[in-house]
Amino acid sequence: MTQDLSFIHRFEQGTSAAAPLLLLHGTGGNENDLLPLGKTLAPDRSLLSPRGKVLENGMPRFFRRLAEGVFDELDVIKRAHELADFIVAASEAYRQAKPIAVGFSNGANIAAAILVLRPEVLSGAILLRAMVPLANPPQADLVQKPVLIISGASDPIIPASNAAQLAAMLKDAHADVQHLTLPAGHNLTQTDVTLASKWLNR
Ligand code: MLT
Repeated sequence: MTQDLSFIHRFEQGTSAAAPLLLLHGTGGNENDLLPLGKTLAPDRSLLSPRGKVLENGMPRFFRRLAEGVFDELDVIKRAHELADFIVAASEAYRQAKPIAVGFSNGANIAAAILVLRPEVLSGAILLRAMVPLANPPQADLVQKPVLIISGASDPIIPASNAAQLAAMLKDAHADVQHLTLPAGHNLTQTDVTLASKWLNR
């Protein structure tokens, strides 16, 4: 656990110079949660894994929400910029290329917010169980930014229409979006891992 660079985080140096993975946990997670997923997806890549700074009943998150699925959008914007600044500082401190975000749930939502607010800090993103983070985002330029979205058909938190809206929003910004929907709920499945790994190593 490292506390400098403004976010508590873990950094694991990889053996490859390929873009590192930026691992963004879900509500109640921490910087350790997604390290095993990162190692499975890309055993050779460096991993950077921050802990969200917002606490909801003691559970770390990346931004405040007013209710499940109802976001405090001013906080989304503030926290997305804060995390984007951390990504830039950490990439420089650890001498890493621009990362690919791998976010789950709340972590996927902050990654989607960074894509539209600070697209230059990420080289791509894997958004697992993501939803639209901002109702009226600025027009971003995501030309050819590769984005994989994997949704769950029976996700009780994210309606299919919302996930589809997110995919459309990123496509409108010219990202290279692949949106897959699995016969799954909100939790990740082995198929998520297999598909994300294939996409990453394509
Ligand atoms: C969120 O708050 O980002 C989403 O509702 C997903 C969650 O964290 O439960």
